[in-house]
Amino acid sequence: MQQSALPKGFNLNLIHTWRLVNQPQDYTAQLKSRYGELVSMRYRDSALVVVLSPEGARQVFTGDPEGYDPFWKVGFTGVAGPGSLWVLGGNRHRQERQLLSPAFHSQNFRGYGDIVREVARKYTQDWQPGQTLRAIDTTLAISLDVIMRLVFGVQEERLLSEGRKVLTAVYANLHPMIVFFPWLQRNWFPLWVRYDRAKAAFTKWVNRCLGERRRSSVESNGVLERMLSARYDNGAPMSDEEIRDELITILLAGHETTATALAWALYDLGSNPAELEKLRTELAPFGSDPDPEAIQKLPFLNAVCKESMRLHTLLPEVARELVSPLNLLGYNILPGNYVLVSSMAIHHDADLYPEPDKFQPDRFITRSYTPFEFLPFGGGHRRCLGAHLSDYEMRITLAEIITHWEFEPAAVEREIRHDIAMGPKNGVLLRIKEPRIGN
Ligand code: HEM
Repeated sequence: MQQSALPKGFNLNLIHTWRLVNQPQDYTAQLKSRYGELVSMRYRDSALVVVLSPEGARQVFTGDPEGYDPFWKVGFTGVAGPGSLWVLGGNRHRQERQLLSPAFHSQNFRGYGDIVREVARKYTQDWQPGQTLRAIDTTLAISLDVIMRLVFGVQEERLLSEGRKVLTAVYANLHPMIVFFPWLQRNWFPLWVRYDRAKAAFTKWVNRCLGERRRSSVESNGVLERMLSARYDNGAPMSDEEIRDELITILLAGHETTATALAWALYDLGSNPAELEKLRTELAPFGSDPDPEAIQKLPFLNAVCKESMRLHTLLPEVARELVSPLNLLGYNILPGNYVLVSSMAIHHDADLYPEPDKFQPDRFITRSYTPFEFLPFGGGHRRCLGAHLSDYEMRITLAEIITHWEFEPAAVEREIRHDIAMGPKNGVLLRIKEPRIGN
């Protein structure tokens, strides 16, 4: 086997960085046709090794978790706190995942479907025929309420309404500059001051949620409840600071992502009336009030969600810092370098996904894809904690909207990099047509 420190590549300059950030689909396709499965972009003493194939992704995600540190740890520590899953590595990360994973298991959400449907209905039932709206505004509101109710365990309207302001301010003030240039996380930098202020208000609000949860005698299986009762291997509970760091991580990781995926799914369905009709046919037996649990296993609904997340890969790349050597596709990559799996390149590989730029949900029915071929939630020991919740919420919300409304895109939408994730430039403009059954 060939053993060399780095695969072929080039020195990273500002233009390459700009293209990787702003044109990940075109740029990684070009890299793939020129370099194949692997390319290294060298910067000073280290390199970003970009993985462009499912086999490369498999080798990264099945590697020893101890061999990796999180990407951009310093930047994320300031933003989310030292107790955040995003920045924990090694044994601490393993313990934290063990503690939190049961709360995010799909079984744990069973029974919460009525809440998700109620939230989706609340934000869509007053839509007016003829109205043009930004789908993302609706889906952001839905996904925020779902996080507050299912994860933070808040049911009381007063606390919810305060939470809407406080949580929106946190995510709205998270500017990529303060993440990617951590030396700007200082009291003289206005963007940091704004974020820090929003985070302080968030901490106060979380403390109230914790207080109410501790005083409440109502049984709950919510995520916060589980965090409060969870114990580390040494028997210690999570401290309030650790809980707060995880809650802010969950908010930043799960709110906009799920909302964006939902907005794109509405766009794709609205732009492809034949696929929308197929979905309606599948949902028809469930009547005007689709049962949230019963629809979870519907094959075409599932295929629609997957195909939309493939076509619009929200997080085009998943990165790790190496702390041990990694044998990758015949190269021995040394510690101090970074690996970056390009989910975007894999999701648009025409050999895997013929006509990759088209929305064709049936491809997920006629063939099954491995976790290294379809990877919107990353993979391995850091795979997205909220993947089940996001899938659950997407299916229920889509079923609710599809059942009650006719709609179509009001404009062609384009993908741009928002902060860390990709998103629709104009938030998906939807024209609402007539209501369907039950409205
Ligand atoms: C469509 C929606 C979502 C997408 C596309 C998405 C995608 C991702 C990706 C690509 C990662 C990095 C995985 C890796 O490094 O291998 C990640 C991590 C994470 N996500 Fe999500 N996510 C979504 C929704 C959510 C939700 C709803 C939550 C929580 C309620 C959540 C919580 C997290 C957390 C905590 C991590 C860090 C995991 C760790 O480092 O151990 N995400 N997500």
